Amino acid sequence: MSDAQTAFFPGESDKAPVLMLHGTGGDETDLLPIASFLAPDSPKLGIRGRIHENGANRYFKHTDDGGFDLDNLSTETDWLLSTIVTESAKHGIDPKQLLVLGFSNGANVAAYAWLHKKAPFKTAILLHLMMLDPQASAANLNGVATFLTHGDVDPIVSSANFTGLRRQLTDAGAAVEAYTGHQSHQLTRAELSAAKTWLDKTGRLVLSH
Ligand code: MLT
Repeated sequence: MSDAQTAFFPGESDKAPVLMLHGTGGDETDLLPIASFLAPDSPKLGIRGRIHENGANRYFKHTDDGGFDLDNLSTETDWLLSTIVTESAKHGIDPKQLLVLGFSNGANVAAYAWLHKKAPFKTAILLHLMMLDPQASAANLNGVATFLTHGDVDPIVSSANFTGLRRQLTDAGAAVEAYTGHQSHQLTRAELSAAKTWLDKTGRLVLSH
C-alpha cells in the first residue's frame, strides 16, 4: 500500500509524460500551470513529498541546525524513485520517458537522484535548484539532458553552489544548459520561455514508439 499523495492528468500518448515535483510548501498539483505551458499535450503526474516541516510539504528533512539531513534525503529519494515506478506503471508510463519538472526542493531531489541514486528519467527542467551533497558522484549520466535555472541574487542558492552542481552534472556526462537571470528564488516568464525553447530544441517532447 503506497502512502503517496499523487495527481494524474491524462494527455496524448505520443508526448513525453511530465513528472511534477513541487517546491517547499507546494503539492502534487501546483506546478500544473507551468507544466501545461511547457508541455500542453503531455500526460502529467504529480507526487507530493511526504515530509512535513512547519506545515510545509517537502521531499526530505532539514537537520536541527538548518542543514540538509543527508540520511533522510537518501531514504526519501529511494521512496520517491519507487513511487515514480509504481505510479508510472499505474498510468501506463515508461519512467525512462518522463520529463521531470522540478522547482526548488523538488528540483533538488531530482538532481540528487541523478547524481547519487539510479533515477530512470533522462530529461529534466530544474528551476532554482541547489547542490545538496558536495560528495563526488559516480553516476554515468550519458544520455541525460537538463535545463537548470538560477537567480544571481538568490539568498537561498549561491552562485558557487549552483556552479558546483552544474559541474557535478556535466562531469557525470549530462548535457546541461543553464539559465541565469537577475532575480531571486522566484520564477520569471523569461526563464520559463527559455525552458520551453530548450525543450522544443531537444525534441524530447515527442516520443518515438
Ligand atoms: C531545500 O530545502 O531544498 C532548499 O532550501 C530549497 C527550498 O527551500 O525548498
